[in-house]
Amino acid sequence: METGYTVEQLRAAVADAIRAPSLHNVQPWRFRLRDGGIEVLVDPTRRLPATDPSGWGARVAGGAALFNLRLALTVSGTPAAVRLRPYPSEPNVLARLLPDLPRRPTPAEQHLYAAIPRRFSNRAPFWPDPVPADARWQLGEAARAEHCWLELLIGVSAVNAFAEIANGAHRVLERDPGYRAERAAWVRATHAPDGVPAAAGGPQAEPQDLLPSRSFGGSQRAPGRDFEPEPLVAVLGSAGNTAVDQVVAGQALQRVLLTAADAGLSVSMLSQPIEVPTAREQLRMSLGRFGTPQMVMRIGYGQPGRPTPRRPVDEVLDLPVRAALTNQLPT
Ligand SMILES: Cc1cc2nc3c(=O)[nH]c(=O)nc-3n(C[C@H](O)[C@H](O)[C@H](O)COP(=O)(O)O)c2cc1C
Repeated sequence: METGYTVEQLRAAVADAIRAPSLHNVQPWRFRLRDGGIEVLVDPTRRLPATDPSGWGARVAGGAALFNLRLALTVSGTPAAVRLRPYPSEPNVLARLLPDLPRRPTPAEQHLYAAIPRRFSNRAPFWPDPVPADARWQLGEAARAEHCWLELLIGVSAVNAFAEIANGAHRVLERDPGYRAERAAWVRATHAPDGVPAAAGGPQAEPQDLLPSRSFGGSQRAPGRDFEPEPLVAVLGSAGNTAVDQVVAGQALQRVLLTAADAGLSVSMLSQPIEVPTAREQLRMSLGRFGTPQMVMRIGYGQPGRPTPRRPVDEVLDLPVRAALTNQLPT
């Protein structure tokens, strides 16, 4: 088997990487071919200053894209050796990937890979059917395999306590006109390569809803189609909250999301209680966990939906000139 990556192999892997989720589908990433490897970068022109002032969301999204990239390269036969934040003077470079020893992908890796194009955020109400114990265990394992933890909130009182924290954070955020304007600017009424399509935005919020939902211009819900009364809520957390921890959390998030998609489960994300520092601390204390909550997910069985658009690979991939001409990576 060949060692080293070809440009076409990396281009195909980037097409998988960009299927990752991102806040408001801003797709805040770039990919750079350099010295026989590939790098994942935050695109500073795609920051959300009001919604994501610290850059946490961009790093989590970049980590999720990195997980897809790793998986795609593994399934192509040459896994990558990864260094996170390899250049202290270039904090926007989240990771550098070089070819590791070629090997066959495992069936589990192939299953996760196959789930990449099927995964999407499902903001609609789920069916009341409970998520089986083995699927719950697999979701926890997915987080642990990426050095994170996943806490599933068990029982009505735990979910109600979480809902109180999440609704408080939602109200804090909604008071900020900059935050509201940013969200409105990323809702897409017609087809676009980025942003949240109104059709994917979920139903409009109603007073009886337990959990807050970001308003992406969704439709009125059908009568009787309320959200599930006892949602499965999962909190993903990392050991710390450095920039590297956030990239690690992004990789774990994507592994959990793909594991869910592979098990036929739908997921929506709610990060309001992560974005408001006091709410995040309340959430951490309510879980009694060390480390830092990085994302909250609602998980269940949903109706079919469709993936949201992405920008073309050529818009996010920086090729060295010679590689573009010869399909060979300069070393
Ligand atoms: C860091 C982060 C935070 C997110 N927060 C929310 C949220 O609070 N509410 C929501 O509905 N979706 C949230 N999402 C999901 C994105 O809106 C979604 O990934 C994006 O619109 C692309 O759609 P897709 O997931 O269907 O591919 C978040 C995603 C990321 C990566």
